[in-house]
Amino acid sequence: MREDKTGERISFRLEASVDAASHLPGRASLKTTVRFRLNGKPTVLHTDDERHLLWVLRTDLDLTGTKYGCGAGYCGACTVLIGREAVRSCRTTLKQVEGKDVVTIEGLASGDKLHPLQSAFMEHGGFQCGYCTSGMIMSACALLLANPHPAREAVVQGLERNLCRCGAHQRILVAVQAASERKSPAS
Ligand code: FES
Ligand code: FES
Repeated sequence: MREDKTGERISFRLEASVDAASHLPGRASLKTTVRFRLNGKPTVLHTDDERHLLWVLRTDLDLTGTKYGCGAGYCGACTVLIGREAVRSCRTTLKQVEGKDVVTIEGLASGDKLHPLQSAFMEHGGFQCGYCTSGMIMSACALLLANPHPAREAVVQGLERNLCRCGAHQRILVAVQAASERKSPAS
């Protein structure tokens, strides 16, 4: 995410414009059919498969829990799960998710029951403004899938590529470790 608000807005518009360009009449021939599972549901889209997953989630599917930060793969605000891996959706094209399982922050809870990571972030105040939170939780989810009971150093290492401008890192680490101590933290 950029420090400069004007730059952030311009960057946002450029990214959105590039993505929106895929809908221009002249590019209609680039539309293709993409199939994948999204939060456990089969999903079929007819669109340009070079579009980035982040914008498809946010603009086509109204899943705005996945955030736009830098658009360049640096901040981690846009992190989702593909399979069991944490992936930056701003740099992932639809073509790359064909046939795969994608999970966003909206897909973690089971009905009214929050995922253990979500509960732990609430209980331990693992956020301030909340902008980085869904990316943090999705990265933590991948970490706990690979290592259900990580030592503190492993949590630090697992989340070091996710940026938090508010400096909530200490509480985030506490929340992830608390979630790891619960039953089936990565389920
Ligand atoms: S928006 Fe920053 S890594 Fe994707
Ligand atoms: S950026 Fe505000 S809580 Fe992390």
